[in-house]
Amino acid sequence: MIWLGIESSCDETACAVLQSDPVRILSNPLYSQIQEHQNYGGVVPEIAARAHLQKITIIAQKAVEEAKIKLSDIQAIAYTTGPGLMGPLLVGASFAKGLAKDLGIKAYGINHLEGHIAAAWLQNTQLEAPFLTLTVSGGHTELVVENENFNYTLLGRTRDDAAGEAFDKCGKLLGLPYPAGAIISKLASTGNRKFHHFPRALKNEDHGEFSFSGLKTSVLRYVEKHGPDYIEKNLNDICASLEEAIVDILVSKSIWALKKTKLKTLVVGGGVSANTHLRQKLAHYTSRHGINLYIPEAGLSTDNGAMIAAAAIRRAQKHALLPKTEVKPWMPLAP
Ligand code: KG4
Ligand code: ZN
Repeated sequence: MIWLGIESSCDETACAVLQSDPVRILSNPLYSQIQEHQNYGGVVPEIAARAHLQKITIIAQKAVEEAKIKLSDIQAIAYTTGPGLMGPLLVGASFAKGLAKDLGIKAYGINHLEGHIAAAWLQNTQLEAPFLTLTVSGGHTELVVENENFNYTLLGRTRDDAAGEAFDKCGKLLGLPYPAGAIISKLASTGNRKFHHFPRALKNEDHGEFSFSGLKTSVLRYVEKHGPDYIEKNLNDICASLEEAIVDILVSKSIWALKKTKLKTLVVGGGVSANTHLRQKLAHYTSRHGINLYIPEAGLSTDNGAMIAAAAIRRAQKHALLPKTEVKPWMPLAP
């Protein structure tokens, strides 16, 4: 079966063509709006929605061409219904439903976070629940157990900023452009991780919740105290120390959740799962403790269309596709 996946929840207009049985990505192009938002230091929802509108047809056509199929070969469409920005989501949903109607096929709503997990599932499509998931993106940081039949148990999530947001906002304070995660990671690779000890809030507490807003304040105070020349001169070391703090929190809480649940598989997804240091630290722990680790392959950690089609294929394999446009919330909001 040939699927078209559409992702438009934030600042990437992404479409992909996937085949199922066996699952294979035939194409996965995207248009990144980063340049359009960079002057504002973050994503501007209105600009994002307009850019999606301008690009979605072009990217969908590109996905079809690169997959070397005809539009009429597409047998089902999967698109992101949320969480995400309302305007951008509406563009993707309207495009998906219109195209599905035109082709006489069905369009299925997919949860964005389930998409991130499906990107890692592509590493092993035989993977069976239950397993622990760590979702780390620009908007989310959470530890969730995926049980059978796509039922989820929330162990903990961030009380304030997400891990990706911490990278981006601290990066902004250090004078780096948006999004700063990948840039910090690159600078950190040649820095001294022990240069400065940034705080690790809630790290040793016996629960699965995160908090990154204090880290942001700590970076702000650090910048104020030392001034721009010092920051520029020691940027690699500061980035390394900052990355060390964020990764330390994520790894410590993942270990806490693995111990708590006694699960033997950890699935990681979301933009921050592209982080080399996080990947190495998780690999180190899991390999020593007999835990299977699945992280998306390069290029599939950050938002893309393939993960949305993959999530639909994964549900279809378990006869758990949701009817038409309905989508089950990933988890209720924390009280
Ligand atoms: O999943 P994603 O593409 O979009 C959302 O759903 O939010 O995640 C984007 C986030 C951004 O905050 C970005 O800075 C971060 O992922 N990110 C990284 C890296 N690559 C992207 N953070 C740390 N290290 C990276 N290599
Ligand atoms: Zn995402």
